[in-house]
Amino acid sequence: MRSVITGTGIGLASHVVMNEDLARIMDTSDEWIRSRSGIQQRNYAAPGQGSAELGSLAASAAIAKAGLMPTDIDAVIFATMTPDHVLPGNGPLLQAALGLRNIPTFDIRQQCSGFLYGLELADVLVQSGRYPRVLLVGAELHTGFMPWHLGWDTVIGESDREVTEAEKAENTLSRDRTVLFGDGAGAAVIEAREGSAGLLKTLLFTDGTGAGVLTMKGASFKTRPFVTPAQIEAGETIPVMQGKEVFRSAVTLMPQAVRDVCSAAGVAVESLGLVLVHQANLRIIEGVQKALGLPAEKVPHNIERYGNTTAATLPILYHECLEKGLVEPGMLIAFTALGSGMHWGAALYRA
Ligand code: UT7
Repeated sequence: MRSVITGTGIGLASHVVMNEDLARIMDTSDEWIRSRSGIQQRNYAAPGQGSAELGSLAASAAIAKAGLMPTDIDAVIFATMTPDHVLPGNGPLLQAALGLRNIPTFDIRQQCSGFLYGLELADVLVQSGRYPRVLLVGAELHTGFMPWHLGWDTVIGESDREVTEAEKAENTLSRDRTVLFGDGAGAAVIEAREGSAGLLKTLLFTDGTGAGVLTMKGASFKTRPFVTPAQIEAGETIPVMQGKEVFRSAVTLMPQAVRDVCSAAGVAVESLGLVLVHQANLRIIEGVQKALGLPAEKVPHNIERYGNTTAATLPILYHECLEKGLVEPGMLIAFTALGSGMHWGAALYRA
């Protein structure tokens, strides 16, 4: 008995924002963003839209694709670092929105590795025999981090107002991070099935000595109250990232995790049909591909269209590979991710 992904779906935020739109409200350019990250556009949620809503859209589509009814789902794992509320988590919001039974919903974070960690948990739940049909969702709404009250209306095309020079200067302070991220959701239904297809092996890692490399200083329960006007003023509610450090870790630890998961399962890296890499930067994705010695067509990407959607990149990418017919029955597929924590790892899956 294996844990098989029987349906996938995506939930995209409504506004498509081009690099040029961002260049209107901060000192950046299409050329910089494309050449450093590969990103050309991303989706931003409409005001009032949340990650629970995007996750629910993706989940509905995944449940339908699996040929199930919402009431067939036995457990939910919702991975997000950008929930609608600090409490409760997105799990109960999705449960109510989709009319699921009063089943357990698990809210996890794990940032860019959220979907990968969720796959491992889903496998454990399914293999226990207690939850035969698990819904796994990865959804993020990064726009809440962005100081877009200084030009939000302009960037999503709801106004033609040009930002002032002072607003532009303030938006530029966070440009090294804000241009990289987008909103979105992906979901997968994971079911117990007889046969050779399914999740073969997962390897997950944590190194908390790197916690400060990608973190958010403000909105911390170590301060009273947990968020203060001074923190907002100081930009501490926007995550900080040591970009080069994360980059270096990503291009070494992800290929190593893929090699290790293949070796643990007794399969050769060359026999992989697809390697789905967390979509953070096209240069990282190409670095992983080269480190593994695989041809570019085995390492597909969609970062150019969505930017980095954190827990949502892997399920959106897998869904698009299925839709494009890139996934053949019996094909070996590796999923790999690395992000804040640091958390990283890889999963090996037979389609
Ligand atoms: O999913 C979570 C994990 N996150 C990642 O995997 C991200 C990993 N890191 C990266 O992808 C890259 O390090 C970045 C894309 C974040 C940055 O690329 P980089 O090649 O390391 O650029 P840099 O930080 O060295 O910046 C180069 C220059 C700087 O100017 P100076 O100091 O050389 O004059 C920046 O101020 O580019 C400037 N810069 C920008 N210019 C225009 C930074 N952001 C921007 C921007 N537009 N948006």
